[in-house]
Amino acid sequence: MAQKHKVVVTRQLISEAQTLLEAVPDLDIVQWPSEGPAERSWLLEHAKGASGILLMLSDKCDEELVQTAGESLKVIASFSVGTDHVDREALKTRGIRLGYTPTCLTDAVADLSVMLILMAQRRGGEAIAKVVKGEWPKMPWSPLLMTGPQIRGSTVGFLGFGRIGQATLKRLLPFGIDRVLYSTSKPGKPVNEDHFGLLKEGTIPIEVAKDWRHLAKESDIVIVGCALSPSTKHLVNAEFFSEMKKLAVLVNIARGPVVDTDALVAALDKGEIFGAGLDVIENEPNIAADHPILNQPRCVLVPHIGSATIETREQMATESVKNLLAGLNGEAMVNEVRL
Ligand code: DGY
Repeated sequence: MAQKHKVVVTRQLISEAQTLLEAVPDLDIVQWPSEGPAERSWLLEHAKGASGILLMLSDKCDEELVQTAGESLKVIASFSVGTDHVDREALKTRGIRLGYTPTCLTDAVADLSVMLILMAQRRGGEAIAKVVKGEWPKMPWSPLLMTGPQIRGSTVGFLGFGRIGQATLKRLLPFGIDRVLYSTSKPGKPVNEDHFGLLKEGTIPIEVAKDWRHLAKESDIVIVGCALSPSTKHLVNAEFFSEMKKLAVLVNIARGPVVDTDALVAALDKGEIFGAGLDVIENEPNIAADHPILNQPRCVLVPHIGSATIETREQMATESVKNLLAGLNGEAMVNEVRL
C-alpha cells in the first residue's frame, strides 16, 4: 500500500481479525473502543477522510455517511449477510465497493431456523416459562398437555430460498417433511441458485409457489428468509396470516420489517396461526417492555442471534477485514455485492 489509508472500524473485533488488521503497515486504524454499538456521531466524525469503513448491520451506511467520508472512500465492508442498512445507490454512483459475509453464516442461521421451528411448534417458550414460574405442580403430565404440531409430514414454505433457506431445508429433510414450496422476494419468481443441489436431487417435491397466497395457504411451516426491500416490507401481513393454516407456524430469520408485528399479534390472538419463532422484529432492539408481542405465549423471540456461533462470528470478522483490505488494494474480495 503506497499511501497511508485511514480505516474506520465500528466495533472491537475478535482476535484473529484484529491481528490481521493491525498487521497491515501504513494503516491508520480508528476503531470504536467498546463492545457495544458505535455512536452515529462518532462514526460521522471519524469517517471524514476515510478510505474504508468496516461496519455492522446496526450502522446505517447512507448518503450522509458517504458524503461525510468524502472522495477518499473506496470500500465499505459490512459484517453481515444482509445489506439493507446500506444505501447501494450512494455507493454505486461514487464507485465505492461493498463487501459482505454471505457464506460463512449460512450454517449458524439455518441451525437457528430449526431451533425456532421446534420452539414454535412444541411451545418451547411457553413450556419453559411455566416451569420457571413454578407452575409445573399445577399441570401434571396428561395426554394433551402442551401438545403442538410436529415437523414430520409438513409442507414447508420458504419466502426467500437462498443459501440460508436451502441449508434449512437440508436440515429438515431428515425430519421427514413432505413437500416444499418456495418463492424469492418476488413470489412466483424462480430461485437464482441451487446452492446444495437440492432442486436437482428431487428427494421430495420442491415447487415454486404460484404466489404468496398459495404459499401461505398450503404451508405448515413458513420460513421468512428474504432480504428486506420496499417490495418485501410487510410481505407477511394480516391478509397473509388470514390465509395460513391454524396449526401453522411462522419463523423469521431475515429482517423484522418483512413481518407486520401488529398483524402477527392479532393473528396469534385470533388463533389464525399456531405460533411463531422470531430472531428479528421491527424496531429491534428497541422493543417496549409492554409490547404485546412479549405477552404472546406462543411466540418465541430471540435477540437477533442467528449467526451467533463463536466460529461464525470469528469468520465474519476475518472475512470483513479481508474485504476491507481487498477494497483498499483494488483486489478481489471474499464476497462482494455487485452494485
Ligand atoms: C446478517 O448478517 O445480516 C444476519 O442478520 C446476522 O444474523
